[in-house]
Amino acid sequence: MEAEISSAVDQAGRLVAESTYVVALCGAGVSVDSGVPTFRGPDGLWTRLGQPSTHSYQVFLADPAAWWRQYLSRDADPARAELRDAIARAQPNPAHHALVDLERMGVLRHTITQNVDGLHRKAGSASLIEMHGNRTMNRCISCEARWPREETVIGDYLPTCPFCAGLVKSDTVMFGEPVPRGVLARCREEVERSDCMLLVGTSATVMPAAMFPENVEARGGILIEINPEPTVLSDRADVVLRASAGVATPALARRLRELLGR
Ligand code: OAD
Repeated sequence: MEAEISSAVDQAGRLVAESTYVVALCGAGVSVDSGVPTFRGPDGLWTRLGQPSTHSYQVFLADPAAWWRQYLSRDADPARAELRDAIARAQPNPAHHALVDLERMGVLRHTITQNVDGLHRKAGSASLIEMHGNRTMNRCISCEARWPREETVIGDYLPTCPFCAGLVKSDTVMFGEPVPRGVLARCREEVERSDCMLLVGTSATVMPAAMFPENVEARGGILIEINPEPTVLSDRADVVLRASAGVATPALARRLRELLGR
């Protein structure tokens, strides 16, 4: 597999080496080699088990206590239960580690992930935005503070924010819920500084993340896609590494190490 993509890896490595501010936009495909399913596509969680309601956030707001009881119950809906169990078992794979290597080499300046599995953080990515949240954390919908979820017991009361007493939800961004303002502002800052974006394991179909590559492209920046399947961005990418993230991302990191002598 690696031999088949080696000339694309070389081309990508050279473009990355010439860039000044490289940002990675990551999606569910990064975690496939860790045993976490994607959402869309033939084996996707939602293809097999159905997509959540597009009004999930409104359902939460209408009765947060009922939502929490259902969320914490072992009888959570099948898609949520499968994702929860897969994430509980998952460990970072070579793709996560390669992104950390690229960051430590000074090549990758920032990682924006749409993944909620926390694996980038676990692998050691330091300059990281989990733009759709982190499944192991809670968030206040008023002040946007986030903290690790302790055992949350929901009986007759709801968890409230320890900082402002606001309403608390799981940090995962739901359908119908805007990405938290502060998180989106930080994403925009990183995207606007980027002259090269690595698109790793994302279908690039979900807003607002889907706009980020367009922003880089519109300013004449480079797009490099790592994905075993074509996406809406494949034709517009400067280089496509048509392989699993767990193979192509380490290959790219190795090439950068050779090119830069780091
Ligand atoms: P998708 O499920 O839409 O897309 C996953 C992408 O990963 C597809 O393009 C696959 O071809 C690709 N893929 C599959 N296996 C791969 C592998 N081994 N290596 C690399 N790529 C691989 O997932 P996202 O683009 O992440 O939001 O979807 C974005 C958002 O949609 C998610 O964050 C989720 C959902 O709404 C929330 O959970 C809040």
